[in-house]
Amino acid sequence: MTKPLEGIKIIDFTHVQAGPACTQLLAWFGADVIKVERPGSGDVTRNQLRDIPDADALYFTMLNSNKKSLTLDTKKPEGKEVLEKLIRESDVLVENFGPGALDRMGFSWERLNELNPKMIVASVKGFSDGHHYDDLKVYENVAQCAGGAASTTGFWDGPPTISAAALGDSNTGMHLAIGILTALLGRDKTGKGQKVAVSMQDSVLNLCRVKLRDQQRLERVGYLEEYPQYPHGEFSDVVPRGGNAGGGGQPGWVLKCKGWETDPNAYIYFTIQGHAWEPICKALGKPEWIDDPAYKTAEARQPHIFGIFKTIEAWLADKTKFEAVDILRKFDIPCAPVLTMKELANDPSLRASGTIVEVPHKKRGSYLTVGSPIKFSDMKPEVTASPLLGEHTDEVLASLGYTKQDIFNLREVKAV
Ligand code: COA
Repeated sequence: MTKPLEGIKIIDFTHVQAGPACTQLLAWFGADVIKVERPGSGDVTRNQLRDIPDADALYFTMLNSNKKSLTLDTKKPEGKEVLEKLIRESDVLVENFGPGALDRMGFSWERLNELNPKMIVASVKGFSDGHHYDDLKVYENVAQCAGGAASTTGFWDGPPTISAAALGDSNTGMHLAIGILTALLGRDKTGKGQKVAVSMQDSVLNLCRVKLRDQQRLERVGYLEEYPQYPHGEFSDVVPRGGNAGGGGQPGWVLKCKGWETDPNAYIYFTIQGHAWEPICKALGKPEWIDDPAYKTAEARQPHIFGIFKTIEAWLADKTKFEAVDILRKFDIPCAPVLTMKELANDPSLRASGTIVEVPHKKRGSYLTVGSPIKFSDMKPEVTASPLLGEHTDEVLASLGYTKQDIFNLREVKAV
């Protein structure tokens, strides 16, 4: 099966998560992704939180599948020469080094553009160019704080809270992938490459769009009616943390199910969709609420929404989260069990769709990873193992015209 990105050569100068998530996605879709790593050590995640001694950590294997690994010391003249050759014949270079690292290495945007005017140069940084923090190095949680997610996540009586979802890292990588594909389409029209830059702060903020909506509403009317603080609590002049409230016009909450006393995940998320009020009342065995003026409209329900949630919890008390959802789905109520990583890993539907895949690995045996969340009618992205450090060095160098003797010489000076 021909994959849409076949023939696109990508220099993957990325590490940790934000950049690797981007290039992994492009590799699934057929791009030839060559990960350039420092000889001897490689991407720092190869060693981080190892569960098997001497084998690449899952952090690395789960973000670098379908790639090749070329070891190259790009600070040495011999390494720079190899990189230059690679640049001349690649379509994209992706990097997420700390601010200024690529320039210090001698590969500024101007130099890269001079070497290959058709190449797209894609970067992730913590903050965008020109931002007053643009010299900062940034990791996931820093970005969540800088992008507005932390101040709006958690409970009002607790501190700002970090989400487990990689809003700063993988999310930024996905934004970058969209930018790269757009620039590739643009190049088809203009014949020219361009610089694509995505900051982690901007990518987090993009996902916190509704919180900026709320800030403006708050400034205009002084309250936010879908937040638990309304109508009994106080609002300040900044968007508060709303606990588990829904972000749209549909109230919702995480509700206890049978077994919650011992199982920390015996919960469902329940949404009270406005037009589904009648089916909700029927499902709960509360037909008298359907036309009761205290319950009939969303506006009437809001002042005692937590009383309604309590009633729903009483109904849930003898049902597991799965039993509850099986009943509620028949009434068209938007809801889901709170699923654990163990449940997701073993979910037969996710296995069948290729969202959770088991990948054989030369050193680890097989490992589980998250496959492509994007599904196509004409292509099923196949996930292959992440490369061992330098696994494809000889192959890539040979493809650039280096002889066995040249490769030996490069090894002698520790450039590869
Ligand atoms: N050969 C030789 N040197 C190499 C190399 C190679 N193949 N690959 C990387 N290096 C060097 C770089 O040139 C740089 O050297 P310098 O600082 O002397 O110029 C160094 O290795 C890497 O530096 P840096 O990227 O700053 O690494 P770090 O471990 O100090 O910081 C981050 C890590 C993630 C904080 C930082 O890279 C960063 O802020 N990146 C941008 C934001 C980002 O993507 N963060 C999220 C990561 S999930």
